[in-house]
Amino acid sequence: MTTVDHPVTPTQPAEPAIRGGWRTPAGLYRLISSPVLRAILGWDLPRYDVRIVDRRPGTVCLEVGSGGGFYTKALKAHLGNESTLIALDPSARGVDSLRRSLDTLPGAQMTYLAADGCRLPLADASADTLFYGYSLEEMPDPLAAVREAHRVLRPGGELVLFLWRPVIKRHRRRPIITTLDQLFERRRAAIGPQNLRLVYRKHD
Ligand SMILES: C[S@@+](CC[C@H](N)C(=O)[O-])C[C@H]1O[C@@H](n2cnc3c(N)ncnc32)[C@H](O)[C@@H]1O
Repeated sequence: MTTVDHPVTPTQPAEPAIRGGWRTPAGLYRLISSPVLRAILGWDLPRYDVRIVDRRPGTVCLEVGSGGGFYTKALKAHLGNESTLIALDPSARGVDSLRRSLDTLPGAQMTYLAADGCRLPLADASADTLFYGYSLEEMPDPLAAVREAHRVLRPGGELVLFLWRPVIKRHRRRPIITTLDQLFERRRAAIGPQNLRLVYRKHD
């Protein structure tokens, strides 16, 4: 397993090949995050969904775009107290509020970063797992974000992405998936009416 090193400057500049742009309105986000509504509609339920993430003691997992912590709490419990979970989001207020709500809960040791997923403040090959829960589609440069994921993930590490299909339609997805397939080995792809779940492994 790897340890998290001091922040470094990313080496690869962003290519403006495909842009992000969608921002989920706060009210809509709260509504669609409601566990009751999700149970009724059969939508994502974090404590089940995060089982897709490899669970090994000592793992360093980076969640990029942790937002209000919809998946963070479940990831923390899933990974267990011998692992480290880094919750990263550009919103400093969001990250602070997440710290207050999660620090006392059992599970992985937490680190919180207010930062940009297109310029990750982490050293090369410093994470075992990267998790994106409906966040790549909001990033200003998703291709730069994918290259950053590749830089920060250790060889053999796991990349898990959930994409929300209504906001990342086929024409925007295609170059992203092509880049993912070039950089990583695809392990799993599950397509639902609303979402796409992808699991990749970084080549050794
Ligand atoms: C739809 S929300 C999903 C949040 C959370 N993962 C969830 O499933 O509820 C998208 C998240 O992506 C984050 N985001 C937007 N641009 C980002 C960027 N450049 N780097 C990292 N995260 C970003 C937003 O701040 C927001 O928290």
